[in-house]
Amino acid sequence: MFETLKPQPVDGIMAIAKAYREDPRDTKIDLGVGVYKDATGLTPIMRSVKEAEQLLWEAQNTKVYTGLIGDPAFGDAMIGLVLGDAVPRANIAAAATPGGTGAVRQAFEMVKMARPDARVFVSDPTWPNHISILEYLGMETLRYRYFDDETRGVDFDGMMADLRQAKAGDVVLLHGCCHNPTGANLNTAEWDAVIALLQETGATPMIDIAYQGFGDGLDADAAATRKIAASLPECLIAASCSKNFGIYRERTGILMVVSADTSAQALNQGTLASLNRLNYSFPPDHGARLVTMILQDETLRANWMAELEDVRLGMLKLRETLAGELQRLSGSDRFGFLAQHRGMFSLLGTTPDKVKTLREEHGIYMIGDSRMNIAGLNLETAPLLARAIVDVGV
Ligand code: LMR
Repeated sequence: MFETLKPQPVDGIMAIAKAYREDPRDTKIDLGVGVYKDATGLTPIMRSVKEAEQLLWEAQNTKVYTGLIGDPAFGDAMIGLVLGDAVPRANIAAAATPGGTGAVRQAFEMVKMARPDARVFVSDPTWPNHISILEYLGMETLRYRYFDDETRGVDFDGMMADLRQAKAGDVVLLHGCCHNPTGANLNTAEWDAVIALLQETGATPMIDIAYQGFGDGLDADAAATRKIAASLPECLIAASCSKNFGIYRERTGILMVVSADTSAQALNQGTLASLNRLNYSFPPDHGARLVTMILQDETLRANWMAELEDVRLGMLKLRETLAGELQRLSGSDRFGFLAQHRGMFSLLGTTPDKVKTLREEHGIYMIGDSRMNIAGLNLETAPLLARAIVDVGV
């Protein structure tokens, strides 16, 4: 039967991770998949997570199923982290999911269930898996302009012009902070204009927030998401704990659906439970429980926030070091955007050929579209990257 299958396209991010692993050079630099690495190249377990794991090991006396939406305490803790008190709790439906990807997938499925003809507007570029999932689900996908190749900032006029085409019954997918892959983000006034446009067109926003705490701080990074949730009658929010808690393989995420009233909330909540049941029954619990413990305990939470802040400031320092070295070596300010971008990623904005040369001649692995994971650098490798970028003539 399976001879009817066609080979599936390989995900570009996964392909780079494999090529990196297979490269025997010990000078190679991994700027591919979005994971944080410390100065020694390790993706450490955060101390607060280790501590919560120890407490959990001692206290947990059963591994029996949780509920279809996971432990409701996880939902409450994550709603607090992402939305603060922007929206009444009674208007929010939520379900734990396997990672942020699980939340994205469930969100698209929910849209498809409600509106089989919905069109989904995604930024050009966006995280490639957004497109892969939408295509797999057979949903109509439109790209809105986002990245300005000249300034390496947001093409805001293009974005607004394209989003004007979205209408009620369509979905506009936005990155809550730390845009992946570009690193270019909207400022407060631009977010306000997007919100006003969504109010005008009636399109439903969906926010993917996978890097809260990696840009300008935990609250600053959630500010746009909170404003959208408070200003529009409905929105979907897919949040990930992979990066800000460093629990990538535990697959910890959540889908929240904000609605205007409690009867819509009840319908949404039942739909989320049903979608979980259909796809995997119960979502993973271990990571979600650690996150809940950390967010609920004053000391663990304070320690986690301090660790996360160190990670964030370390990435900003790497951005400044890289931009500074490039300025020194190239004698121009054209790489200044690297210090302005936020989050793990920056789109260097160069050709696939130059990305290939960087890989083959310098052992530097970035994604084919020239996305670099800044968190894959350290203070020793940042100047080496700058040298290589100038050498290949970016
Ligand atoms: C990335 O964009 O590198 C991360 O979100 C990891 C992934 O699953 O692609």
